Amino acid sequence: MDLTGKVAIVTGAQRGIGQACAIKLAQLGAKVAVTDISEEGCLETISKIKDNGGEAKAFKMDVTDIDNIKEVKNVVTKEWKKIDILVNNAGIFDYEELEDMTKIDKILEVDLKGLMVVSKIIALDMVKNGYGKIVNITSIAALIGSPKTASYCTAKAGVTGFTRSLAVELGSNGINVNAVAPGAIETPMLAQAGIDEKAFTAMVPKKRIGQPEDIANAVAFLSCDESDYITGQVLAVDGGYTIM
Ligand SMILES: NC(=O)c1ccc[n+]([C@@H]2O[C@H](COP(=O)([O-])OP(=O)(O)OC[C@H]3O[C@@H](n4cnc5c(N)ncnc54)[C@H](O)[C@@H]3O)[C@@H](O)[C@H]2O)c1
Repeated sequence: MDLTGKVAIVTGAQRGIGQACAIKLAQLGAKVAVTDISEEGCLETISKIKDNGGEAKAFKMDVTDIDNIKEVKNVVTKEWKKIDILVNNAGIFDYEELEDMTKIDKILEVDLKGLMVVSKIIALDMVKNGYGKIVNITSIAALIGSPKTASYCTAKAGVTGFTRSLAVELGSNGINVNAVAPGAIETPMLAQAGIDEKAFTAMVPKKRIGQPEDIANAVAFLSCDESDYITGQVLAVDGGYTIM
């Protein structure tokens, strides 16, 4: 797999899965726009990429702020001429009680609407260029239910629907749109979710918690031309959790 000459943008890339994706794409030769809610937050990812000889720039890009997204897209395309790869990784997770109506909007705004808006803005340029790879990070929460997470599960299920729809719409423009559905991956979000890691490890066929690099490897494959005939798919990277 080789991404030399390609330009990638990764959302929510200051830590966790997004950071691993940015590092992996840069390792394969892509120039990477590392974006998150704060530019300073992205500097750790940038220095990890540069330590490996890669090329990257940090940007504040809040996926709920349309003007901010357009501004970053304009700066990146001015600097690097195009965007070939978009990894929609930014996300938030929260539990909610049944009677709690206060979290629905925020979770849907970031995890679903934000991803849709970023995709639409970047895809317009990809259409002009006749080339693009969009990889959306959904979740196995879109495939299975879990208690007290209705908004998160709904948002992630929406991402899989959006992925398929956009893949149909953009297929003839040389654009692939796929999704990766992580299982339990060791990141700050997993710590926040507070799952019982011992119990999960015992249950999952691969007998370990996933690492951000497990997701980054799948994202890299779906960002490369080796996966050119794959579009509209949701790839579960979950150690076999959803096949049980
Ligand atoms: N860790 C897991 O077990 C797991 C499982 C399934 C799916 N996921 C998904 O993977 C993605 C990455 O999760 P993670 O585990 O690395 O979580 P994380 O909390 O470590 O990272 C999420 C990143 O998104 C950023 N972010 C939040 N709101 C944003 C906004 N409005 N604009 C831009 N960036 C924003 C955060 O600042 C953070 O850097 C998320 O979409 C998450 O839902 C994670």
